[in-house]
Amino acid sequence: MHRLTLSLSVFLKSDNNALLAQDYFSAMHIINVQLGTRSYPIYIGDGLLSSADTYAQHIVGKQIMVVTNATIADLYLESLTQTLSDFEVHAKVIGDGEKYKNIEVLNTIFDALLKVPCDRHVTMIALGGGVVGDITGFAAACYQRGVALLQVPTTLLAQVDSSVGGKTAINHKLGKNMIGAFYQPRAVVADTGTLRTLPEREFKAGLAEVIKYGLLGDTDFFQWLESNMDKLARRDHHSLIFAVERSCLNKSRIVAADEREQGRRALLNLGHTFGHAIETATNYDSWLHGEAIGVGMLMAADLSLRLGHISADDFRRIMELIKRAGLPSTPPEKMSPEKFLSYMSVDKKVKQGSIRLVLLRAIGDAYLSDDYPPLILQETLQHFSAA
Ligand code: NAD
Ligand code: GLY
Repeated sequence: MHRLTLSLSVFLKSDNNALLAQDYFSAMHIINVQLGTRSYPIYIGDGLLSSADTYAQHIVGKQIMVVTNATIADLYLESLTQTLSDFEVHAKVIGDGEKYKNIEVLNTIFDALLKVPCDRHVTMIALGGGVVGDITGFAAACYQRGVALLQVPTTLLAQVDSSVGGKTAINHKLGKNMIGAFYQPRAVVADTGTLRTLPEREFKAGLAEVIKYGLLGDTDFFQWLESNMDKLARRDHHSLIFAVERSCLNKSRIVAADEREQGRRALLNLGHTFGHAIETATNYDSWLHGEAIGVGMLMAADLSLRLGHISADDFRRIMELIKRAGLPSTPPEKMSPEKFLSYMSVDKKVKQGSIRLVLLRAIGDAYLSDDYPPLILQETLQHFSAA
């Protein structure tokens, strides 16, 4: 799988091998997340929502509880229900938005499961973006001490990030994602066809997470993105399949090496400490997560440049790619160095007082550090506040 993927990165640059392309893109792509007895496949392809066999092999009993939100239910619930017609399918539709990722809504999911009643052989399916995936995953981890879970992500962010790796959570009024569990799904089914209906801003926000994989550990992918960003941003089908697959390959390797984030998995937080400061300062209601992470990655790159790790040309390439993805490159005007620092200091990544950041030694080579001169961080904050 990996060799084919690498050769395709070359192929996609030249765009001249139609036969290979046809074979490759009409096939379903499978990446395995290697976690011993809890290993699972990620299926990627256009039209998988109607592929009954793909689901059937991972469904445990007869009962299924699909959790989705009102927007996605209108678009895809009927077609998924038809696909699963050999089973007893129930659905719980929750409100659309981050504000519904809370304990009250979680409780309504338990109500729905108990009213049926669903037994401990029920399979829960999260049909939606990261919000639905996170709350459904946590519900599955808790219901009857843990039931089978399938993730069916329908946003780009969820297909390349949140559906893979088993982080599940709800928000508490004192902090985002503060109540949760590591709970791996039985499978992830990513139908790239569902991305056609995704609003433009949400799609671009997902591109930030795609760029993140190139930056933190996959130079070839970063170069591929530089050559193909315009097609990808237009949601060209072939480019999308490749970008989702390559992102999942990167994430699955990191998760397999460090499931509980004791080390390497923290690299996935590239740009997040700066980005969370922007999200918190704007009350999580005007900036999308991916937009904040895009600026956060630029700030991490700027700090890495000031520390003498990456070159001015590397920084320019990163900035250009973020801009070509249609993402903002400067924080909101209200951000000052003081504001950044106060929000960054309460982020989960703070260890014993120093702010731990993901920085870059080079494009494709990220590392974790809390050992940098505070004055240099101040320069970065100043630079981006004045921008
Ligand atoms: P989201 O789930 O809110 O979805 C974004 C919007 O797109 C919603 O309005 C949704 O209804 C709509 N939508 C979804 N799929 C659609 C489709 N195919 N067509 C049309 N509209 C569609 O947002 P998101 O960006 O997917 O996820 C953000 C959440 O993910 C946050 O809660 C964040 O904390 C979480 N997250 C979790 C992890 C993890 O590892 N578990 C990682 C990153 C983010
Ligand atoms: N999205 C970060 C992680 O899964 O670890």
